[in-house]
Amino acid sequence: AKEPVRVLVTGAADFNGVVESGSGEARRSGQIGYALVPMIARGVMLGPDQPVILHMLDIPPAAEALNGVKMELVDAAFPLLKGVVATTDVVEACTGVGVAVMVGGFPRKEGMERKDVMSKNVSIYKAQASALEKHAAANCKVLVVANPANTNALILKEFAPSIPEKNVTCLTRLDHNRALGQISERLNVQVSDVKNVIIWGNHSSTQYPDVNHATVKTSSGEKPVRELVADDAWLNGEFITTVQQRGAAIIKARKLSSALSAASSACDHIRDWVLGTPVGTWVSMGVYSDGSYGVPAGLIYSFPVTCKNGEWTIVQGNGLGIDEFSRKKLDSTAEELSEEKALAYSCLT
Ligand code: NAI
Repeated sequence: AKEPVRVLVTGAADFNGVVESGSGEARRSGQIGYALVPMIARGVMLGPDQPVILHMLDIPPAAEALNGVKMELVDAAFPLLKGVVATTDVVEACTGVGVAVMVGGFPRKEGMERKDVMSKNVSIYKAQASALEKHAAANCKVLVVANPANTNALILKEFAPSIPEKNVTCLTRLDHNRALGQISERLNVQVSDVKNVIIWGNHSSTQYPDVNHATVKTSSGEKPVRELVADDAWLNGEFITTVQQRGAAIIKARKLSSALSAASSACDHIRDWVLGTPVGTWVSMGVYSDGSYGVPAGLIYSFPVTCKNGEWTIVQGNGLGIDEFSRKKLDSTAEELSEEKALAYSCLT
Protein backbone atom coordinates (compact mmCIF):
# COMPACT_ATOMS: atom_id res chain seq x y z
CA ALA A 1 0.00 0.00 0.00
CA LYS A 2 1.12 3.57 -0.65
CA GLU A 3 2.38 5.77 2.18
CA PRO A 4 -0.16 8.50 3.02
CA VAL A 5 0.52 12.00 1.72
CA ARG A 6 -0.05 14.85 4.14
CA VAL A 7 -2.21 17.54 2.52
CA LEU A 8 -2.51 20.97 4.09
CA VAL A 9 -5.63 23.07 3.59
CA THR A 10 -5.51 26.54 5.14
CA GLY A 11 -8.75 28.42 5.78
CA ALA A 12 -10.54 25.11 6.29
CA ALA A 13 -13.04 26.07 9.01
CA ASP A 14 -16.59 26.72 7.92
CA PHE A 15 -18.11 29.15 10.36
CA ASN A 16 -20.26 32.23 10.72
CA GLY A 17 -17.70 34.92 11.29
CA VAL A 18 -19.09 37.84 13.25
CA VAL A 19 -18.72 41.52 12.32
CA GLU A 20 -16.93 40.69 9.13
CA SER A 21 -18.51 43.13 6.74
CA GLY A 22 -18.71 46.89 7.11
CA SER A 23 -22.38 46.58 8.04
CA GLY A 24 -21.55 44.38 11.02
CA GLU A 25 -23.45 41.38 9.64
CA ALA A 26 -22.33 37.87 10.42
CA ARG A 27 -20.64 36.40 7.39
CA ARG A 28 -20.21 32.82 6.36
CA SER A 29 -16.52 31.91 5.97
CA GLY A 30 -14.43 29.04 4.79
CA GLN A 31 -16.84 27.57 2.27
CA ILE A 32 -14.12 26.51 -0.17
CA GLY A 33 -12.25 24.67 2.55
CA TYR A 34 -15.42 22.91 3.66
CA ALA A 35 -16.15 21.77 0.11
CA LEU A 36 -12.52 20.81 -0.51
CA VAL A 37 -11.61 18.57 2.41
CA PRO A 38 -14.13 15.81 1.63
CA MET A 39 -13.02 15.79 -2.00
CA ILE A 40 -9.42 15.27 -0.91
CA ALA A 41 -10.48 12.56 1.54
CA ARG A 42 -12.35 10.75 -1.25
CA GLY A 43 -9.31 10.66 -3.52
CA VAL A 44 -10.50 13.28 -5.99
CA MET A 45 -7.24 15.22 -5.70
CA LEU A 46 -4.54 12.56 -5.51
CA GLY A 47 -6.29 9.51 -6.92
CA PRO A 48 -8.40 6.65 -5.59
CA ASP A 49 -5.40 4.61 -4.40
CA GLN A 50 -3.56 7.36 -2.54
CA PRO A 51 -4.16 7.53 1.24
CA VAL A 52 -4.04 11.01 2.75
CA ILE A 53 -3.63 12.71 6.10
CA LEU A 54 -5.44 16.04 6.16
CA HIS A 55 -3.87 19.02 7.90
CA MET A 56 -6.31 21.88 8.43
CA LEU A 57 -5.24 25.34 9.57
CA ASP A 58 -7.38 28.28 10.51
CA ILE A 59 -7.18 31.28 12.84
CA PRO A 60 -7.98 31.06 16.59
CA PRO A 61 -11.55 32.52 16.38
CA ALA A 62 -12.34 29.61 14.03
CA ALA A 63 -10.75 26.88 16.17
CA GLU A 64 -14.00 25.42 17.45
CA ALA A 65 -15.56 25.39 13.98
CA LEU A 66 -12.41 23.77 12.63
CA ASN A 67 -12.73 21.05 15.22
CA GLY A 68 -16.32 20.55 14.08
CA VAL A 69 -15.08 19.93 10.54
CA LYS A 70 -12.61 17.40 11.95
CA MET A 71 -15.48 15.63 13.75
CA GLU A 72 -17.39 15.41 10.47
CA LEU A 73 -14.37 14.01 8.64
CA VAL A 74 -14.14 11.28 11.27
CA ASP A 75 -17.88 10.63 10.99
CA ALA A 76 -17.71 10.28 7.22
CA ALA A 77 -15.38 7.27 7.63
CA PHE A 78 -13.44 7.90 4.43
CA PRO A 79 -11.39 4.78 3.66
CA LEU A 80 -8.45 6.81 2.26
CA LEU A 81 -8.28 9.21 5.20
CA LYS A 82 -5.54 8.06 7.57
CA GLY A 83 -5.59 11.01 9.95
CA VAL A 84 -6.71 14.58 10.54
CA VAL A 85 -4.73 17.40 12.12
CA ALA A 86 -6.89 20.45 12.92
CA THR A 87 -4.83 23.28 14.30
CA THR A 88 -4.33 27.02 14.60
CA ASP A 89 -0.57 26.53 14.84
CA VAL A 90 1.12 27.19 11.51
CA VAL A 91 4.18 25.05 12.29
CA GLU A 92 2.10 22.02 13.26
CA ALA A 93 -0.04 22.58 10.16
CA CYS A 94 2.93 22.66 7.78
CA THR A 95 4.97 19.80 9.25
CA GLY A 96 5.58 17.03 6.75
CA VAL A 97 3.06 18.18 4.14
CA GLY A 98 3.61 17.09 0.54
CA VAL A 99 0.80 19.22 -0.88
CA ALA A 100 -0.29 22.61 0.47
CA VAL A 101 -3.51 24.26 -0.66
CA MET A 102 -3.61 27.81 0.60
CA VAL A 103 -7.24 28.91 0.81
CA GLY A 104 -6.92 31.07 3.92
CA GLY A 105 -6.52 34.77 3.51
CA PHE A 106 -7.87 38.13 4.45
CA PRO A 107 -10.96 39.08 2.44
CA ARG A 108 -11.55 42.59 1.22
CA LYS A 109 -14.10 44.26 3.42
CA GLU A 110 -16.28 47.20 2.54
CA GLY A 111 -14.46 50.48 2.69
CA MET A 112 -10.99 48.93 2.90
CA GLU A 113 -8.19 50.26 0.74
CA ARG A 114 -6.51 47.85 -1.66
CA LYS A 115 -3.22 48.47 0.05
CA ASP A 116 -4.59 47.50 3.46
CA VAL A 117 -5.93 44.19 2.13
CA MET A 118 -2.65 43.52 0.34
CA SER A 119 -0.70 44.31 3.46
CA LYS A 120 -2.73 41.80 5.54
CA ASN A 121 -2.23 39.08 2.95
CA VAL A 122 1.46 39.81 2.49
CA SER A 123 2.04 39.27 6.20
CA ILE A 124 -0.01 36.04 6.20
CA TYR A 125 1.82 34.63 3.17
CA LYS A 126 5.23 35.70 4.40
CA ALA A 127 4.71 33.83 7.68
CA GLN A 128 3.24 30.74 6.04
CA ALA A 129 6.08 30.69 3.49
CA SER A 130 8.65 30.46 6.28
CA ALA A 131 6.72 27.70 8.04
CA LEU A 132 6.40 25.68 4.81
CA GLU A 133 10.04 26.18 3.96
CA LYS A 134 11.18 24.92 7.34
CA HIS A 135 8.66 22.17 8.01
CA ALA A 136 7.04 20.86 4.82
CA ALA A 137 8.20 17.66 3.11
CA ALA A 138 10.93 17.99 0.51
CA ASN A 139 9.44 18.85 -2.89
CA CYS A 140 6.15 20.04 -1.37
CA LYS A 141 3.78 21.32 -4.07
CA VAL A 142 1.98 24.54 -3.22
CA LEU A 143 -1.28 25.85 -4.69
CA VAL A 144 -2.44 29.31 -3.64
CA VAL A 145 -6.19 29.87 -3.98
CA ALA A 146 -6.71 32.91 -1.76
CA ASN A 147 -6.86 36.28 -3.46
CA PRO A 148 -4.95 38.09 -4.72
CA ALA A 149 -3.90 34.56 -5.70
CA ASN A 150 -1.03 35.30 -8.10
CA THR A 151 0.58 37.85 -5.83
CA ASN A 152 0.05 35.83 -2.64
CA ALA A 153 1.84 32.97 -4.45
CA LEU A 154 4.65 35.29 -5.46
CA ILE A 155 5.14 36.43 -1.86
CA LEU A 156 5.09 32.81 -0.71
CA LYS A 157 7.75 31.94 -3.29
CA GLU A 158 9.95 34.90 -2.34
CA PHE A 159 9.86 34.04 1.36
CA ALA A 160 10.45 30.33 0.89
CA PRO A 161 13.63 30.49 -1.20
CA SER A 162 14.52 26.85 -0.58
CA ILE A 163 11.24 25.63 -2.07
CA PRO A 164 11.90 25.28 -5.82
CA GLU A 165 10.10 28.05 -7.73
CA LYS A 166 8.47 25.39 -9.90
CA ASN A 167 6.64 24.15 -6.81
CA VAL A 168 4.70 27.35 -6.12
CA THR A 169 1.58 27.93 -8.22
CA CYS A 170 -1.79 29.67 -8.06
CA LEU A 171 -5.28 28.65 -9.10
CA THR A 172 -6.62 29.76 -12.48
CA ARG A 173 -8.07 26.35 -13.24
CA LEU A 174 -11.48 27.54 -12.09
CA ASP A 175 -11.37 30.22 -14.79
CA HIS A 176 -10.18 27.60 -17.28
CA ASN A 177 -13.06 25.31 -16.34
CA ARG A 178 -15.51 28.21 -16.54
CA ALA A 179 -14.32 28.87 -20.10
CA LEU A 180 -14.81 25.19 -21.02
CA GLY A 181 -18.27 25.37 -19.47
CA GLN A 182 -19.28 28.44 -21.47
CA ILE A 183 -18.19 26.86 -24.76
CA SER A 184 -19.97 23.62 -23.93
CA GLU A 185 -23.20 25.48 -23.12
CA ARG A 186 -22.99 27.62 -26.23
CA LEU A 187 -22.37 24.66 -28.58
CA ASN A 188 -24.51 22.24 -26.63
CA VAL A 189 -21.67 19.70 -26.46
CA GLN A 190 -20.23 17.70 -23.58
CA VAL A 191 -17.79 19.76 -21.55
CA SER A 192 -15.38 16.81 -21.64
CA ASP A 193 -15.23 17.13 -25.43
CA VAL A 194 -13.95 20.72 -25.22
CA LYS A 195 -10.26 21.30 -24.56
CA ASN A 196 -7.28 23.61 -24.77
CA VAL A 197 -8.78 26.94 -23.82
CA ILE A 198 -6.19 29.15 -22.14
CA ILE A 199 -6.43 31.55 -19.24
CA TRP A 200 -3.62 34.08 -19.47
CA GLY A 201 -2.44 36.27 -16.62
CA ASN A 202 -4.04 37.30 -13.38
CA HIS A 203 -6.90 35.55 -11.57
CA SER A 204 -8.83 38.83 -11.73
CA SER A 205 -11.12 40.55 -14.17
CA THR A 206 -8.10 41.40 -16.39
CA GLN A 207 -7.46 37.72 -17.13
CA TYR A 208 -7.65 36.78 -20.80
CA PRO A 209 -9.69 33.67 -21.62
CA ASP A 210 -8.38 32.66 -25.06
CA VAL A 211 -10.15 30.16 -27.34
CA ASN A 212 -7.89 30.60 -30.36
CA HIS A 213 -6.40 27.12 -29.95
CA ALA A 214 -9.36 25.40 -28.32
CA THR A 215 -11.02 22.43 -30.00
CA VAL A 216 -14.11 20.28 -29.69
CA LYS A 217 -14.25 16.55 -30.32
CA THR A 218 -17.02 15.91 -32.88
CA SER A 219 -18.18 12.86 -34.79
CA SER A 220 -16.09 14.14 -37.70
CA GLY A 221 -12.90 14.71 -35.70
CA GLU A 222 -11.51 17.62 -33.70
CA LYS A 223 -12.77 21.02 -34.81
CA PRO A 224 -11.59 24.50 -33.77
CA VAL A 225 -13.95 26.24 -31.36
CA ARG A 226 -13.78 29.39 -33.52
CA GLU A 227 -15.05 27.48 -36.53
CA LEU A 228 -17.88 25.79 -34.64
CA VAL A 229 -19.06 28.88 -32.79
CA ALA A 230 -18.73 30.96 -35.96
CA ASP A 231 -19.41 34.17 -34.05
CA ASP A 232 -16.21 36.15 -33.44
CA ALA A 233 -18.16 39.02 -31.92
CA TRP A 234 -19.41 36.70 -29.16
CA LEU A 235 -16.02 35.01 -28.68
CA ASN A 236 -14.16 38.33 -28.52
CA GLY A 237 -16.80 40.03 -26.41
CA GLU A 238 -19.45 38.43 -24.25
CA PHE A 239 -17.61 35.12 -23.84
CA ILE A 240 -14.55 36.88 -22.44
CA THR A 241 -16.47 39.15 -20.10
CA THR A 242 -18.68 36.30 -18.87
CA VAL A 243 -15.63 34.27 -17.84
CA GLN A 244 -13.88 37.31 -16.37
CA GLN A 245 -16.91 38.27 -14.30
CA ARG A 246 -18.25 34.85 -13.42
CA GLY A 247 -17.01 35.10 -9.84
CA ALA A 248 -19.02 38.28 -9.33
CA ALA A 249 -22.10 36.70 -10.93
CA ILE A 250 -21.89 33.78 -8.49
CA ILE A 251 -21.62 36.15 -5.53
CA LYS A 252 -24.65 38.07 -6.79
CA ALA A 253 -26.70 34.88 -7.11
CA ARG A 254 -25.54 33.00 -4.00
CA LYS A 255 -24.67 35.96 -1.79
CA LEU A 256 -21.54 33.87 -1.22
CA SER A 257 -18.52 33.36 -3.43
CA SER A 258 -17.83 30.30 -5.58
CA ALA A 259 -17.03 27.39 -3.33
CA LEU A 260 -17.76 23.97 -4.80
CA SER A 261 -16.43 24.97 -8.21
CA ALA A 262 -13.30 26.47 -6.66
CA ALA A 263 -12.74 23.35 -4.56
CA SER A 264 -13.27 21.04 -7.52
CA SER A 265 -10.91 23.08 -9.69
CA ALA A 266 -8.25 23.03 -6.97
CA CYS A 267 -8.46 19.22 -7.07
CA ASP A 268 -8.15 19.29 -10.88
CA HIS A 269 -5.08 21.53 -10.61
CA ILE A 270 -3.21 19.28 -8.18
CA ARG A 271 -4.36 16.02 -9.79
CA ASP A 272 -3.10 17.03 -13.22
CA TRP A 273 0.12 18.43 -11.78
CA VAL A 274 0.87 15.22 -9.85
CA LEU A 275 -0.61 12.59 -12.17
CA GLY A 276 -0.09 14.34 -15.52
CA THR A 277 -2.25 15.91 -18.23
CA PRO A 278 -3.71 13.70 -20.95
CA VAL A 279 -1.69 13.58 -24.19
CA GLY A 280 -2.69 16.47 -26.46
CA THR A 281 -4.35 18.43 -23.66
CA TRP A 282 -3.10 21.41 -21.76
CA VAL A 283 -4.52 23.21 -18.74
CA SER A 284 -4.06 26.67 -17.24
CA MET A 285 -1.93 27.20 -14.12
CA GLY A 286 -0.55 30.31 -12.48
CA VAL A 287 3.22 29.66 -12.51
CA TYR A 288 6.46 31.58 -12.12
CA SER A 289 7.13 33.28 -15.44
CA ASP A 290 10.40 32.57 -17.23
CA GLY A 291 9.65 35.24 -19.81
CA SER A 292 7.72 32.94 -22.16
CA TYR A 293 5.33 34.70 -24.56
CA GLY A 294 6.92 38.04 -23.70
CA VAL A 295 5.47 37.96 -20.19
CA PRO A 296 7.86 39.65 -17.74
CA ALA A 297 9.92 37.09 -15.81
CA GLY A 298 9.36 37.10 -12.07
CA LEU A 299 5.57 37.30 -12.03
CA ILE A 300 3.22 34.45 -11.18
CA TYR A 301 1.19 34.43 -14.39
CA SER A 302 -1.33 31.96 -15.78
CA PHE A 303 -0.03 30.05 -18.81
CA PRO A 304 -1.07 26.96 -20.75
CA VAL A 305 0.91 24.06 -19.29
CA THR A 306 1.25 20.33 -19.71
CA CYS A 307 2.27 18.15 -16.77
CA LYS A 308 4.31 14.97 -16.64
CA ASN A 309 6.16 13.19 -13.82
CA GLY A 310 4.98 15.80 -11.32
CA GLU A 311 6.31 18.78 -13.27
CA TRP A 312 4.58 21.41 -15.36
CA THR A 313 5.99 22.85 -18.57
CA ILE A 314 4.68 25.95 -20.32
CA VAL A 315 3.32 25.00 -23.74
CA GLN A 316 5.74 26.43 -26.26
CA GLY A 317 5.92 26.12 -29.93
CA ASN A 318 4.96 27.81 -33.08
CA GLY A 319 1.46 26.44 -32.91
CA LEU A 320 0.49 29.02 -30.33
CA GLY A 321 0.77 32.19 -32.33
CA ILE A 322 -0.40 35.28 -30.45
CA ASP A 323 -2.38 37.72 -32.59
CA GLU A 324 -2.56 41.44 -31.98
CA PHE A 325 -5.87 41.28 -30.08
CA SER A 326 -4.42 38.65 -27.74
CA ARG A 327 -1.08 40.47 -27.36
CA LYS A 328 -2.79 43.52 -25.90
CA LYS A 329 -4.72 41.39 -23.47
CA LEU A 330 -1.64 39.39 -22.39
CA ASP A 331 0.18 42.66 -21.79
CA SER A 332 -2.54 44.43 -19.86
CA THR A 333 -3.03 41.58 -17.39
CA ALA A 334 0.79 41.41 -16.99
CA GLU A 335 0.79 45.11 -16.27
CA GLU A 336 -1.79 44.66 -13.53
CA LEU A 337 0.35 41.91 -12.01
CA SER A 338 3.45 44.11 -12.08
CA GLU A 339 1.48 46.79 -10.24
CA GLU A 340 0.23 44.24 -7.68
CA LYS A 341 3.80 43.05 -7.18
CA ALA A 342 4.97 46.62 -6.57
CA LEU A 343 2.11 47.18 -4.12
CA ALA A 344 2.96 43.94 -2.30
CA TYR A 345 6.60 44.95 -2.04
CA SER A 346 5.64 48.37 -0.74
CA CYS A 347 3.84 46.56 2.10
CA LEU A 348 7.04 44.81 3.12
CA THR A 349 8.90 47.92 4.14
P1 NAI B 1 -13.43 33.11 3.32
O1 NAI B 1 -12.97 34.49 3.63
O2 NAI B 1 -14.82 32.74 3.58
O3 NAI B 1 -12.53 32.04 4.08
C1 NAI B 1 -11.21 32.25 4.32
C2 NAI B 1 -10.82 31.37 5.51
O4 NAI B 1 -9.45 31.63 5.76
C3 NAI B 1 -11.60 31.66 6.78
O5 NAI B 1 -11.98 30.45 7.38
C4 NAI B 1 -10.56 32.41 7.62
O6 NAI B 1 -10.76 32.23 9.01
C5 NAI B 1 -9.29 31.75 7.15
N1 NAI B 1 -8.06 32.49 7.42
C6 NAI B 1 -7.87 33.82 7.48
N2 NAI B 1 -6.60 34.10 7.79
C7 NAI B 1 -5.98 32.92 7.94
C8 NAI B 1 -4.66 32.56 8.27
N3 NAI B 1 -3.73 33.48 8.53
N4 NAI B 1 -4.36 31.25 8.34
C9 NAI B 1 -5.29 30.31 8.11
N5 NAI B 1 -6.56 30.60 7.79
C10 NAI B 1 -6.90 31.89 7.71
O7 NAI B 1 -13.10 32.86 1.82
P2 NAI B 1 -13.56 31.69 0.83
O8 NAI B 1 -14.81 32.08 0.14
O9 NAI B 1 -13.47 30.35 1.46
O10 NAI B 1 -12.40 31.91 -0.22
C11 NAI B 1 -11.06 31.76 0.17
C12 NAI B 1 -10.16 32.59 -0.70
O11 NAI B 1 -10.16 32.07 -2.02
C13 NAI B 1 -10.56 34.05 -0.84
O12 NAI B 1 -9.38 34.82 -0.80
C14 NAI B 1 -11.19 34.11 -2.20
O13 NAI B 1 -11.10 35.40 -2.74
C15 NAI B 1 -10.34 33.12 -2.94
N6 NAI B 1 -10.94 32.55 -4.16
C16 NAI B 1 -10.09 32.24 -5.18
C17 NAI B 1 -10.54 31.62 -6.31
C18 NAI B 1 -9.60 31.28 -7.40
O14 NAI B 1 -10.07 30.79 -8.43
N7 NAI B 1 -8.30 31.49 -7.30
C19 NAI B 1 -11.95 31.28 -6.47
C20 NAI B 1 -12.77 31.61 -5.33
C21 NAI B 1 -12.26 32.23 -4.21
